[in-house]
Amino acid sequence: MEHKKLKAFPNDFLWGSASAAYQVEGAPFEDGKKASVWDNFVRIPGKTFKGTNGDVAVDHYHRYKEDVALMKELGLKSYRFSIAWTRILPDGRGEVNQAGLKFYEDLIDELIANEIEPIVTIYHWDLPQALEDLYGGWESREIIADFVNYAEVLFNAFKGKVKYWVSLNEQNIFTSQGWSLATHPPGKRDMKLFYQVNHIANLTNAAVINKFHELEMDGQIGPSFAYTPQYAKDSDPLNVLAAENAEELYSHFWMDVYLYGEYPIAAMAYLRENGLAPEFEAGDAELLKSAKPDFLGINYYQTATNAWNPVDGGVGVGSFNTSGKKGTTKESGIPGLHKKIQNPFIDRTNWDWEIDPEGLRIALRRITSRYRIPVMITENGLGEYDKVEDGKIHDDYRIKYLESHVKAIKEAMTDGAKVIGYHTWSYTDLLSWLNGYQKRYGFVYVDQDETMEGSLKRIPKDSYYWYQHLIETNAEEV
Ligand code: BG6
Repeated sequence: MEHKKLKAFPNDFLWGSASAAYQVEGAPFEDGKKASVWDNFVRIPGKTFKGTNGDVAVDHYHRYKEDVALMKELGLKSYRFSIAWTRILPDGRGEVNQAGLKFYEDLIDELIANEIEPIVTIYHWDLPQALEDLYGGWESREIIADFVNYAEVLFNAFKGKVKYWVSLNEQNIFTSQGWSLATHPPGKRDMKLFYQVNHIANLTNAAVINKFHELEMDGQIGPSFAYTPQYAKDSDPLNVLAAENAEELYSHFWMDVYLYGEYPIAAMAYLRENGLAPEFEAGDAELLKSAKPDFLGINYYQTATNAWNPVDGGVGVGSFNTSGKKGTTKESGIPGLHKKIQNPFIDRTNWDWEIDPEGLRIALRRITSRYRIPVMITENGLGEYDKVEDGKIHDDYRIKYLESHVKAIKEAMTDGAKVIGYHTWSYTDLLSWLNGYQKRYGFVYVDQDETMEGSLKRIPKDSYYWYQHLIETNAEEV
């Protein structure tokens, strides 16, 4: 519906920005840290864009004070970052590495001293290699206890300081890319294993949320889900069904488990029929049902549009555009369920990500009516090439992208959605896992590129000053 007047953002709205350890920190083997699976995966030829890795990244490990000072000037209310498990427990379990813990203690203290709310992501994909070697990481139920133990170290260390916790970042992405598309570690293509690994991650997520509540932590916890709302190509019932299939298999399949503790019915029927359903053990169903997230984190970048895809002659697994050349994404889908097609009504980035602010309003509306839970937007942003001209970065395209998404949130809140914060991806430029340094997202430009020998100088972009004004005025002009 069209509103005559949009509701104002509440005064305690968390206007923030985000990052992840591997993508910004560098210093992979400093102060006792050991390898994560990403430290090794990036060294396999052909896995990342031009062989880029996070050995230096944007050197946040050594420059966090400078980064926080710029956050303060920007006026950020919150900063979402992830903790590298291998700094805290270099082997994934065992003795706590005090030097590693101290880095995050210092960062959190620095944020608090600057009146910036720290939002901690416990896991943003950098699994300790030692646990991968010991029992296959996420493939084993042993990870549940190790993960909860790691999280408990953090809970005890930062109790009273950190109020918002993200359990797992984009479980749907790290499991599908890791076990179905082979583009993230451990680089496997095995659909049965993918659903099993995902089930173990669901149990882990539930167990850590329960631990947080058992400890009576003063704060809130929830997972961050990469939500891509699914559309139908048109009103042909088969295309509508294709969109329903995609929403069931790519969205409800995670969010229903987080919030109802149950897998969605049609998706499970499909998986059972194809011998892909996750294996339950005694107690699994109860564990999933028992955990109640306090909020749902949503990473929103785009929507997807679907058409029918017949069993005979339908398209299968496609590939991602990691080239930065618009229009190079290949069609993909699951025969008999759906295929993803290009939406003619919306524009795309150079990496073929669809730019759809209305989709964010739709996402928030769908979540609100299906789950009735407060949402924290934990990521939203535009990855593009940026150019430095006379020492400035005129990223008006990013401002346009972000402003239209903020407006969509305002509209969704006027519709009745409860949104507690907005975190742009990303704060500084950083390493894109598969796309190197050329796909930039930050408010703060960092002189780093695929040679990995940049000066690492920070330059606030035009979008930095735009966000500063937006925060100052609580987005009342949007
Ligand atoms: C999200 C991740 O999937 O999207 C981030 O949580 C990631 O870590 C971001 O960087 C953007 O993706 P990409 O592939 O453009 O770097």
